[in-house]
Amino acid sequence: MSGMVHVVAHPVLKHNLTQMRRRETLPPEFRVLMSGAGALLLYEATRELPTTDVRIETPVASTSAPSLERTPVCLVPILRAGLGLAAQMLDIVPRATVAHLGLYRDPKTLEAVEYFFKAPANFGESHVFVIDPMLATGHSAAAALKKLKRLSPRTLTFICLLAAPEGVALLQAQHPDVPIYTGAIDDRLNDHAYIVPGLGDAGDRLYGTL
Ligand code: URA
Repeated sequence: MSGMVHVVAHPVLKHNLTQMRRRETLPPEFRVLMSGAGALLLYEATRELPTTDVRIETPVASTSAPSLERTPVCLVPILRAGLGLAAQMLDIVPRATVAHLGLYRDPKTLEAVEYFFKAPANFGESHVFVIDPMLATGHSAAAALKKLKRLSPRTLTFICLLAAPEGVALLQAQHPDVPIYTGAIDDRLNDHAYIVPGLGDAGDRLYGTL
């Protein structure tokens, strides 16, 4: 596995993930755990954002201190489960914009089909973070990255909560330049393309549509 795959080993994230995996965890708790996990993942994934020193006045003295560069940051949750992972991310980077990308899988061709996309005008100048909790086969993530690359963002990073080895391999084959941040890499996919042991359908568990 290349250095582009980061498994975030934070104990709070690990704990949240374990609670989310439990069959008995219901949507209200699942949502809180998911959004907390998202904040921790974004915290790690933004580690490389550039800062510049600016002159400031504290109540005590004049000093030089690091500040995030003005380069825009854009979060791209993939609908619908990406919304659950992104929910608290704006608390980490409040000035980020949010672009929404809706994809569904065509039942005949199994290709990812776009049904919604709304992005800010400065998307092409932005550091872009694509957010989807479950990196399973990797097909929709790969399609999302392919689409977003056409808009030439400054940087592209993929954030998920859980990954299957199959999805990581596909993204690394098709988008070796895109770093992946994940909370864990599970064992495998089952015959229905669910991650094993996983946590089930993330969208259903977030929104009570089981
Ligand atoms: N999507 C999910 O929500 N769960 C999986 O296990 C795989 C894809």
